[in-house]
Amino acid sequence: MLLPETIYDRIVIGFSGASGIIYGIRLLEILHSINIKTYLIISEWAKKNIAIETDKTLEYVKSLCAVNYENFKLDASVSSGSFLHDGMVIVPCSMKSLSSIANGYDDTLISRAASVTLKESRKLILVPRETPLSRIHLENMIKLQDAGAIILPAMPGFYHKPRTINEIVDHLVGKILDQLKIKHDLFKRWKDS
Ligand SMILES: Cc1cc2nc3c(=O)[nH]c(=O)nc-3n(C[C@H](O)[C@H](O)[C@H](O)COP(=O)(O)O)c2cc1C
Repeated sequence: MLLPETIYDRIVIGFSGASGIIYGIRLLEILHSINIKTYLIISEWAKKNIAIETDKTLEYVKSLCAVNYENFKLDASVSSGSFLHDGMVIVPCSMKSLSSIANGYDDTLISRAASVTLKESRKLILVPRETPLSRIHLENMIKLQDAGAIILPAMPGFYHKPRTINEIVDHLVGKILDQLKIKHDLFKRWKDS
């Protein structure tokens, strides 16, 4: 059973154009199923990756969120620190969006909302997906971790013996929910009876 432990029941989600959009869609499905309101921003390259990497439609993905914003809408509610929420997750997080946030460039709604989440000392979870990583990528991640962000790379674990892609995806999504302090049973924990 999934029991939310959030205050506002509101989570901001950014989908950027890295590979691994399946993780973001699964996170949305879970949050939707437990009635947590999601404020979703989908970048243009994330929209393309939904079509390239999944059999889901953009309409289906949007149907899972409470509010959907275009990434250029810098006047959206989530652009302001006065919008209260329980945290923001960027999943997957491209190296481009990561760089924008790390360097305070704030050129898109995803990076602006992330920047605001940091300045308001709220939880910011970034799920980068790139390999191998350059020194620039690593330095940007260190900057963000120093500033309070949680870097949660899309690195699958195998100790729970996944048999399907869905089980690999659920492990990563479960790790995100752990950070959001939302109880779940998406994967079997190590030596947990
Ligand atoms: C099929 C596809 C896969 C991509 N995978 C990655 C990736 O895994 N990591 C990454 O950092 N960028 C990846 N990119 C590049 C980003 O989409 C590109 O840098 C884009 O400018 C990101 O913009 P956004 O962060 O505003 O979505 C990929 C692009 C395509 C088309």
